[in-house]
Amino acid sequence: MLKKWWHNTIGYQIYPKSFQDTNGDGVGDLKGITAHLDDLADLGINVIWLCPVNKSPMKDHGYDISDYEEIDPMFGSKDDLKELIREADSRGIRILMDLVVNHTSSEHPWFQRALADPDGEYGKYYIIQEGRDGKAPNNWRSIFGGSAWERIGDSNRYYLHLFTKWQPDLNWENPALRREIYEMVNRWLDLGIRGFRVDAISHLKKDFSCPDLPANGADGLADGFAYFTNAEGIGAYFQDLKENTFARYDAMTIGEVDEGLPPDTLAEYIGDNGYFSTIFDFCHSIFHVNAPQWKDKPVAMMDAIKKLLFEKQEMIRGRGLLCNYLENHDLSRTVERFIPESEIDFYSSSLVGGINFFLPGIVFLYQGQAIGMRDFRKDRLDAFRDPTTFVLYEEQIKNGMTAEEAFDQINRESREHSRTPMQWSSAPNAGFSTAEPWFAVNPNYHSINYEAQKKDPDSLYAFYKKMIALRKSGDFQELFIYGAFTPLYEEESGVIAYRRSDGKRDVLIINNAKPAKTTLLLPGAVQSILLSNYDTVVINDGVIELKRYQMAVIELQ
Ligand code: GLC
Ligand code: CA
Repeated sequence: MLKKWWHNTIGYQIYPKSFQDTNGDGVGDLKGITAHLDDLADLGINVIWLCPVNKSPMKDHGYDISDYEEIDPMFGSKDDLKELIREADSRGIRILMDLVVNHTSSEHPWFQRALADPDGEYGKYYIIQEGRDGKAPNNWRSIFGGSAWERIGDSNRYYLHLFTKWQPDLNWENPALRREIYEMVNRWLDLGIRGFRVDAISHLKKDFSCPDLPANGADGLADGFAYFTNAEGIGAYFQDLKENTFARYDAMTIGEVDEGLPPDTLAEYIGDNGYFSTIFDFCHSIFHVNAPQWKDKPVAMMDAIKKLLFEKQEMIRGRGLLCNYLENHDLSRTVERFIPESEIDFYSSSLVGGINFFLPGIVFLYQGQAIGMRDFRKDRLDAFRDPTTFVLYEEQIKNGMTAEEAFDQINRESREHSRTPMQWSSAPNAGFSTAEPWFAVNPNYHSINYEAQKKDPDSLYAFYKKMIALRKSGDFQELFIYGAFTPLYEEESGVIAYRRSDGKRDVLIINNAKPAKTTLLLPGAVQSILLSNYDTVVINDGVIELKRYQMAVIELQ
């Protein structure tokens, strides 16, 4: 693997709306991020990914961009961004933006012109097709529910939107559109942005070869995922995008690549000459310990997660670096997803943070993860804020769920749970804002907050800091990035363990991901215990005895 500057990334994702408000309007802003750079540096991170801060009507909280060149006034100004870049740089932190180019906002001037004249230049920037027999061009369901097509006025024309109807898909077949996008990307890179998380990128190409698909829901629509995800030929777009932008700036890019990449194509995506630096894949995001399928089977679920994580490593086999993340703004909090409610405490939370932390790859954390922020279940549907939540709710009702079942499912799986304001302190509104926050703060901020944990050497935050420090430490940094990966104790249920070695050092990472103790015969003599979430690691005659949810990182001789 060729060495790259971003290989030592300990990343931190920020959802700007919910990070820190500085002007008392209840919404987080860029100045709020700059104000916390010392805190982020204290944690040990060196890359920040900002969720979208471009001008937007906020139908999808910024993933509907109406002006790629401007910062939304809600977040501040371009000068605020420049200041953030400068201040971050002085602390050795690089800033990545979110590049949302599968679609724009329906308020983007390009789309407005396309609506006014679908046959004109801008009509070709979007995917506009004639309806069939008074119906949409095909029966694809949008990823966010409902038809993926919206009729234009009372014409027989429809535009495609794989997400909400306020997010029309761009037509990447059009070279003029691609050129505009490349120029825009390069302007941000010129400004000092060091790269991008590339949104919804696996949907850039659509395969229209098949008209209607068999319906698979009460809405009569069909899941067209296979036709608009990693469609044949999509690589040519990625290559062109990379050559005209990222490669010229040695930028870091993280593709949001949905599941389903054939194993042999992974290196094409993230190998030495891959389309992207790395990807966020979704392999572990489908699991929830309270979902009917896993309820009462939390250990079996951990085994399933282990299998997928290890399979991914097997697929890439050292030819590139995957991204070891657990949380983001589209998922509920990890402890809620991975640990049964009655078992959530410091030990299980720290264990969860460690399950993929030392795998080959880079690390990415989400705001609030290091202090163990939790989901804030709602007692009424209208306490949620995301239009998509309501569409999904309606869809479940149509599919036969009772109102209570549908609401339960939303409360369990809503992506909005990760979007509650950051819990900085026990001050009013968790120190997030002096005004009423745009989205309710989790009332547990009195017991779960950054200020308290920063002072406490035994807190979850302190543990994350130790994990980061170990991954970055001079002696082990290269090993954890490039060292070989060998699964261990694979048949041992509830144990996620592997070895990292590089000829010089040999390190064992064992996670006892279950509420019972485990005894294992170690594969070699112990040199030293590098880290554990318990005060002691019991080893007698080469046998290690792990307590419930104990993790340990052990250097072997
Ligand atoms: C990505 C984003 C998500 C957004 C969607 C549409 O999946 O992470 O938040 O709604 O793309 O842009
Ligand atoms: Ca604000």
